[in-house]
Amino acid sequence: MVKVAVLGYGTVGSGIVEVIKTNQDMVNKKAGDEIDVKYILDLRDFPGDPYENLVVHDVEVILNDPEVQVIAEAMGGVEPAYTFTKRALSSGKSVCTSNKELVAKHGPELLQIARDNKCNYMFEASVGGGIPIIRPLNASLTPERVDGITGILNGTTNYILTKMEREGSDFDVVLKEAQEKGYAERNPEADVEGYDACRKIAILSSLVYGKNVNFENIYTEGITKITTTDFTYAKKAGWAIKLLAMSKEVDGKYFAMVTPCMINASNPLYNVNDVFNGILVHGNTLGNTMYYGAGAGKLPTASAVVSDIIDCVKHLGKTVFCFWDSEDLQLSSMDDSVKRFFVRVADADFAKAQEVFGDVEVIDAGVAGEKGFFTKAMSEKEFNEKSAQIGNVLSRIRVEE
Ligand code: HSE
Repeated sequence: MVKVAVLGYGTVGSGIVEVIKTNQDMVNKKAGDEIDVKYILDLRDFPGDPYENLVVHDVEVILNDPEVQVIAEAMGGVEPAYTFTKRALSSGKSVCTSNKELVAKHGPELLQIARDNKCNYMFEASVGGGIPIIRPLNASLTPERVDGITGILNGTTNYILTKMEREGSDFDVVLKEAQEKGYAERNPEADVEGYDACRKIAILSSLVYGKNVNFENIYTEGITKITTTDFTYAKKAGWAIKLLAMSKEVDGKYFAMVTPCMINASNPLYNVNDVFNGILVHGNTLGNTMYYGAGAGKLPTASAVVSDIIDCVKHLGKTVFCFWDSEDLQLSSMDDSVKRFFVRVADADFAKAQEVFGDVEVIDAGVAGEKGFFTKAMSEKEFNEKSAQIGNVLSRIRVEE
């Protein structure tokens, strides 16, 4: 029997216990051993909860119990999760987590501590919720040179953009509704400004390139400036607007960014709507593979954590390979990234825009007083210089082909 402790009895933590208990037979069979939740760490008490007797308030009880071999950390945030995780791994206890902040910030260090102590640090649930993506990258796409990942990695913003597109509602109205439905996290800024997706693409990029992609160096733009008028044009042109988190290797240079993009119907991410996530991975010999599913939510996220618990139990005393060194990967300047752009300008500025951008593809969406158009592909630097000459650009959205 393998004893497990769960740190944090909130949405994900309680989901982990629920998944283990609901599928106990299956979980045990797949792990090849009996998995038993011995402790739940939380500051609160849970009178009436079926597992209230497992709740402890002092992490020392867990860290000092030699019977506990696997810990599921569902506390979120960097501290105290970081300290608890380091101490657990240092004493040979494997840790599984959904905590993307912690993984993005200290992943390589925690993986090294796990290797030094012959245990595991696993984080399947940190990206894409219940979607298997970390394990496929680590274990299935191993022969591939992955040269591109493009993902819709944030369910909240995808829900908001889908609603804006379908109902023509304003950003603020839809955000409020998303918060009421419990999709948005406590601080919606992390979702709507793209910070959450930024951490997730940093984790995925680090895994495929093998070096640390520092999330602080990733260009990140959220969805707060996207308007219903942008959707009027996008719909007219048959395009969707999605918050994409991307990293690409182009001629030996690495680019990573989080930004709203226009994508057309030929892009497999076009139909990823509502709170769902989708991740498109391009390997040099495999081509595209796509991973789709519930990118957030109690049970999907918990299921991914439990898959890690099972993996840890199957590999007690042995560290599973994870391709992520502590050395930083040098990201290229955003100035050198090349894309087409969708641009909106007032009618009065359109002649100047044509002069500056040359041939443009105009979208006639019937919006009074302005014009919308696609530019040719150009670098960010060139685009910024050209738009500065126009003066007042009403909106610009990158195009992902
Ligand atoms: N706030 C996140 C999202 C939760 O909306 O995707 C899952 O990481």
